[in-house]
Amino acid sequence: MSRVYNFSAGPAVLPEEVLREAAEEMLDYRGTGMSVMEMSHRSKAFEEIITTAEQDLRDLMNIPDNYRVLFLQGGASQQFAMIPMNLMKNRVADYIVTGQWAKKAAKEAEKYGKVNRIASSEDKTFSYIPDCSDLPVSEDADYVYICENNTIYGTKFKELPNTKGKTLVADVSSCFLSEPVDVTKYGIIYGGVQKNIGPAGVVIVIIREDLITEDVLPGTPTMLTYKTHADAKSLYNTPPAYGIYICGKVFQWIKKQGGLEAMKERNEKKAKVLYDYLDQSRLFKGTVVAKDRSLMNVPFVTGDADLDAKFVKEAKAAGLENLKGHRTVGGMRASIYNAMPYEGVVALVDFMKKFEEENL
Ligand SMILES: Cc1ncc(COP(=O)(O)O)c(C=O)c1O
Repeated sequence: MSRVYNFSAGPAVLPEEVLREAAEEMLDYRGTGMSVMEMSHRSKAFEEIITTAEQDLRDLMNIPDNYRVLFLQGGASQQFAMIPMNLMKNRVADYIVTGQWAKKAAKEAEKYGKVNRIASSEDKTFSYIPDCSDLPVSEDADYVYICENNTIYGTKFKELPNTKGKTLVADVSSCFLSEPVDVTKYGIIYGGVQKNIGPAGVVIVIIREDLITEDVLPGTPTMLTYKTHADAKSLYNTPPAYGIYICGKVFQWIKKQGGLEAMKERNEKKAKVLYDYLDQSRLFKGTVVAKDRSLMNVPFVTGDADLDAKFVKEAKAAGLENLKGHRTVGGMRASIYNAMPYEGVVALVDFMKKFEEENL
């Protein structure tokens, strides 16, 4: 068996320990004689899996009692619709557009009401986070929406926007559990888990209780109403059970590493190796304004598309996979999520140094 260093933006690398444990439990989960994939979601064993997973997530993020944790399906993209359907009481929402995902979310919300794009960084290919300290937040906005870490462009909000008292909704798909967060600052924090937490197929929604109501937009399907899932403790229908089980294992792995403070320290150390190298390289260049750099997704370019392609190809041959940038940006992108070991980033930088020497 040989594992590569996988820099994919998602689905992405998971902790090897978690994969090994899952493999050991594959045929017989703790004496049940069956795999978690094969068991009833109403069984005692699964009930324990989902309750423990929720509790571990609550411990890790310090989630207050007046927030509910929902394990849902449909990916992050389904939330683009579910959020307005459930929250747009006035049919008005403010969106801060810092990349493709926020842009898509805003477009989807437009199906349900008026969307005000109160800030954007599209003028410079989303390479920075706009100043959000004093935005023209709409008086009647039902919420203010951000994508906190922009997977494609490699930017991250280092400070949350001043929403002037309005509910903040954040897509944290690509920075979930990468550092401590103050949950009380948000109305909804949500993310697809396939980057930092588990297999695709699960989306986690952390939602303040007062936002869970029956008063949703007319025509909202039962399955797209938060209340349905909150009332049924994420077991209204068959949930993505195996995915939730793996998420639970990752929560325990993070706890073992020392929680979110420790994750932040590890992630800062990893990102520093790469950014420090980029800052002095004569061949490679980071594409993001330094102060807004993500700890998770690091895009970089040589400025020559052919050389970029050569780099990606040779890196792959050296066991450094999935370094091609997003199709809308080009160049390269290294996603260095929680489970990417420090050694993986060092191996990447060593390879970049060698490539620089050979190609300059
Ligand atoms: C920040 C962000 N939001 C949303 C999505 C869409 O996620 P999904 O494919 O789960 O719908 C992605 C996927 O890469 C993402 O990075």
